[in-house]
Amino acid sequence: MLRRSVGFVNRAVPGLGYFASRRWFEYISSRDSGRDMLFMNYGFAPLADDAPLNLRSEDAEHRYFIQLYHHVASAIDLRGQDVLEVGCGRGGGTAYVARYLQPRSILGVDLAANAIAFCNSHYRLDGLRFERGDAQDLPFPDASFDALLNVESSICYPDVPRFFSEVVRLLRPGGHFLYADIRNREELAGWAEQLAATGLELLEEENITPNVLRALELDSERKQALIDRQVPLLLRRTFKEFAGLQGSDFFYGAFANGEKVYKRFLFRRPVD
Ligand SMILES: C[S@@+](CC[C@H](N)C(=O)[O-])C[C@H]1O[C@@H](n2cnc3c(N)ncnc32)[C@H](O)[C@@H]1O
Repeated sequence: MLRRSVGFVNRAVPGLGYFASRRWFEYISSRDSGRDMLFMNYGFAPLADDAPLNLRSEDAEHRYFIQLYHHVASAIDLRGQDVLEVGCGRGGGTAYVARYLQPRSILGVDLAANAIAFCNSHYRLDGLRFERGDAQDLPFPDASFDALLNVESSICYPDVPRFFSEVVRLLRPGGHFLYADIRNREELAGWAEQLAATGLELLEEENITPNVLRALELDSERKQALIDRQVPLLLRRTFKEFAGLQGSDFFYGAFANGEKVYKRFLFRRPVD
């Protein structure tokens, strides 16, 4: 049953796996109308005895997802900056950045219409807004943003180099690209070439797979309970694979055995 349901989604999106399915994200987003699913990433947990990220009590249940956003977005000081997040999903990360990292403005964009509808009804904060858009063709003028944030989303795009050229176009000179995503081991060299071709200056590159695995382990029980509560019986095993529950194969197992790698980057657009 598991192989059949995962296989079904994979066949629906040849070559890219079920991550690429727009319908899939529309569906996930439609399963929850409340606060349970404000994020759709695999999370991040420190491995050493770092002091835990200080969060307000209402954010504690989303700690691992938020820690991933914090790890990626706090690579630079965003205070006073105009930020674009592409692939914001249900806006939890966009709102975290707005509330904790104090940019002047932050705009979240996603292809999934019901995710954007959710964001627009759920968050009310000065300087924070959401709009539907496609990462490969973003409807904003050149050099509109100081920073562009992209977390676990580019893996879904049919034309990733086109997204990267949008990043370069939209950043102001000296602006930063704050980026994290997953690739299969055999895709890493091609990914590095695509990034090098952008002309962006690479400031930081980090393999965070061990941190992501740790987060998946620490959050597994909570996610299992959530899926059992919210997802119809027939789809539960597929969701558990998708959510990367400890012991599942497709993501958790692939991170553990090195088939999939999770990386974080910081780039800067050169000042011409
Ligand atoms: C794994 S989710 C991550 C969402 C969010 N970054 C987070 O961490 O919670 C990937 C997101 O990318 C969005 N996405 C997929 N293709 C897209 C595209 N072409 N343009 C913009 N967003 C896209 C999906 O709708 C989904 O919300």
